[in-house]
Amino acid sequence: MPKKIPLLTVNHLQKTFREGKKERRAVDDISFSIEEGECLGLIGESGCGKSTTVNMIARLLKEDAGEIYFNGKKMTQGHRLRPVGRELQMVFQNPKDSFNPRYTLLEGVMEGARHYRIYEKKELKAAAKKMIGYVGLKESLLDMPVRSLSGGECQRAAIARALLCSPKLMICDEATSALDVSVQAQIIHLMRRLKKEKQMTFLFISHDLALSATICDKIAVMKKGKIVECGSAEEVLHHPRDPYTQLLLKSVLYAEVNSITDRSVL
Ligand SMILES: Nc1ncnc2c1ncn2[C@@H]1O[C@H](COP(=O)(O)OP(=O)(O)O)[C@@H](O)[C@H]1O
Ligand SMILES: [Mg+2]
Repeated sequence: MPKKIPLLTVNHLQKTFREGKKERRAVDDISFSIEEGECLGLIGESGCGKSTTVNMIARLLKEDAGEIYFNGKKMTQGHRLRPVGRELQMVFQNPKDSFNPRYTLLEGVMEGARHYRIYEKKELKAAAKKMIGYVGLKESLLDMPVRSLSGGECQRAAIARALLCSPKLMICDEATSALDVSVQAQIIHLMRRLKKEKQMTFLFISHDLALSATICDKIAVMKKGKIVECGSAEEVLHHPRDPYTQLLLKSVLYAEVNSITDRSVL
């Protein structure tokens, strides 16, 4: 049988930022891959290089070295950034900032699909309404200014906007980090549904190892631009090999979140 090609492959990716004479290697020779339908967690503390990595994958930032293959195409070719297109969608930490302040919920959710001309005009509205219902938002909110919604509702809207583009990969960069713990759990629950019902593939970025283990199949732990440990979520959570992973698990933040989160809802 021919070997299945991963949906995303990252090989020896590197990025150094220069400010005057100072140099900072934000991403230092990292490699990983994600199979279709899988969720990979890229976990590490603030400043370890997670967003720099995803920005290179989403082609918002040029790498210094290394290769990225997405959906069978080499993305790291030539000097120009090649747009990645609708097949890769991002969900960010502050969903409100990602919406145009003049948009209603319905307009905000339609934005991406309209840009990529995925639907006929008439179909678009119906598809957007259906998706808004799917992510658990009430129809009565459709004409509300999207930024007036709560953080959790806004994040559901951002997920609906991404889904309407029928992506192959969703990158969630700290998508639950700004939310209250109970709302965090609801968003994770929604993502798990997407995995199960739509076989969605995720790159899940977070500083919270315990929370990530509730959705990720595999976890890569990042420290100072490098991946220090990678394995099944189960393995990394219960039998961490690297001292840094052990430290992450012992951190105050973990203890706090772990004691408050009602994981029975997950
Ligand atoms: N545009 C930039 N210019 C200079 N330094 C940057 C830039 N973006 C990120 N960095 C630095 O690179 C490192 C990694 O940042 P980032 O990828 O945002 O980390 P994380 O998402 O894990 O918090 C940090 O030290 C950050 O200050
Ligand atoms: Mg970040």
